[in-house]
Amino acid sequence: MRTIIGIIVAVAALAGLGGVFVSRPSIAPIERPQASTFPAEAVKAGASLAAVGNCITCHTKDSGAPFAGGRAIETPFGRIYATNITPDPVTGIGRWSEPAFGRAMREGVARDGRHLYPAFPYDHMAKTSDADIKSVYAFLMTRTATPAPTPANELGFPYSSRSLVAFWKLLYHDRSPFKPQAAQSAEWNRGAYLVEGLAHCGSCHTPRNAMGAEDPSKPYAGADVQGWTAPALGATSDAAVPWTADRLYDYLRKGRSPQHGVAAGPMAPVVRNLAGVSDADIKAIATYVASIAGAPSAMRQAQATQAIARAKGEGAPSRNAPSGPGAAIYAGACAQCHGEAGRAPLDPALNLALSTSVRAGSPNNLVRVILSGIQQADNAPGPHMPGFATVLDDKQTADLVAYVRASFTDRPAFAGVDGAARRAR
Ligand code: HEC
Ligand code: HEC
Ligand code: HEC
Repeated sequence: MRTIIGIIVAVAALAGLGGVFVSRPSIAPIERPQASTFPAEAVKAGASLAAVGNCITCHTKDSGAPFAGGRAIETPFGRIYATNITPDPVTGIGRWSEPAFGRAMREGVARDGRHLYPAFPYDHMAKTSDADIKSVYAFLMTRTATPAPTPANELGFPYSSRSLVAFWKLLYHDRSPFKPQAAQSAEWNRGAYLVEGLAHCGSCHTPRNAMGAEDPSKPYAGADVQGWTAPALGATSDAAVPWTADRLYDYLRKGRSPQHGVAAGPMAPVVRNLAGVSDADIKAIATYVASIAGAPSAMRQAQATQAIARAKGEGAPSRNAPSGPGAAIYAGACAQCHGEAGRAPLDPALNLALSTSVRAGSPNNLVRVILSGIQQADNAPGPHMPGFATVLDDKQTADLVAYVRASFTDRPAFAGVDGAARRAR
């Protein structure tokens, strides 16, 4: 694989030197349009579409002005800063015409012709219709203009060369518009349009290849992101109870599904943004995502029935015989909220037998949740769990994780818990 990348990089670098891929034409700057020139309807529609697109999450740094950029996106190739997309004429997109904005969304090219890194998920945004791009543009151009220069990216050679991006696009960027499927319902098609497009769910939930592109042969098979694991949403899902459209609706609308638990980590802002999106669109997204996994097999249904029974304290306890130092830690730190395995907990929703994080292939999310807990941004109401980072050392965390895994699931012990705990701190 190394060799292949080496060859690609060498070819791209040479092509870049030869000027083949250097940049695209610049699109002339315009006078910043008056906010009043945008119809209120378009601005309103654009607000909802921008919420689906998570623009604010990447394009706002901690305690920074909304959309003014400066947040670092960590990639395997280095650090790329999301830009200022407020209508500031100097540091933002105030002088970008609508065609310039549309080209950025579809082709990943800045107004001045520079190729943009796919840390901006234009590989998904490209599916967005002309009308919707127009609305998002109207929404952004009517935000408060905040002057804020974007820090320079921190990328080593050859990744610092934007000509490499042109080459990447040749290989991986599909600019074709969204094609509805006639055999599917209007709701399914609306969901597919949003999920594959603006919502870019696959940018976290689909594994990537060595060049950082999503692997089209493994759609929604789960992937590591920001130290968490975005779980598989397809047939290989680790969820105890299969996801249905109704359960996905609960999860995406309320940030919590009684059969699965909460949206934590990098999924939390996704759900927070969806609060600004209509019920109809959330239902459409849920309908499409449910169809990715397809109808659960009889075996999967039977496992789910068992897991729910176990969570209610009615089923047979796990085959594993849990014991060891983790049991005492669990009793002291967790049991008052989550209950004992195989016994009815205070609230069945909290039973860890139903948590995907406890059943997953990787211990990442379980370790993260134990160390960081669950908090709501700005102390908004919602599920709360204390973090245990200052209470448990790595050895105690590993013992606890082993106990939780053994007593709430019948899956084999996790590997690599120590590493996950070290990385999470
Ligand atoms: C996953 C993070 C992420 C999300 C989500 C995201 N962006 Fe970005 N965006 C970036 C990064 C990073 C860059 C800078 C890329 C570069 O420097 O090559 C960028 C660049 C841009 C640019 C080019 C601006 C310039 O000055 O060159 C535009 C326009 C843009 N994004 C608009 C949007 C819109 C609109 C949305 C929501 C629909 C959105 N982005 C969502 C990360 C993101
Ligand atoms: C920024 C990365 C990111 C994006 C974008 C994202 N997700 Fe997630 N998602 C995650 C992570 C990380 C988790 C694990 C959260 C946890 O364990 O609490 C998750 C969890 C989930 C789960 C729960 C899975 C399970 O079995 O427990 C569902 C369902 C889900 N995401 C659906 C979606 C959908 C639909 C979209 C697009 C609208 C989306 N995600 C976009 C990162 C992301
Ligand atoms: C003060 C109560 C409280 C304590 C103590 C507590 N939790 Fe939680 N925990 C919660 C709540 C609330 C949730 C959200 C669950 C929901 O809404 O369904 C949660 C969620 C979880 C999840 C699911 C997260 C996900 O992304 O799927 C796991 C795993 C978990 N807790 C493990 C633990 C462990 C292990 C301990 C002991 C170290 C612990 N909790 C201690 C209240 C608590």
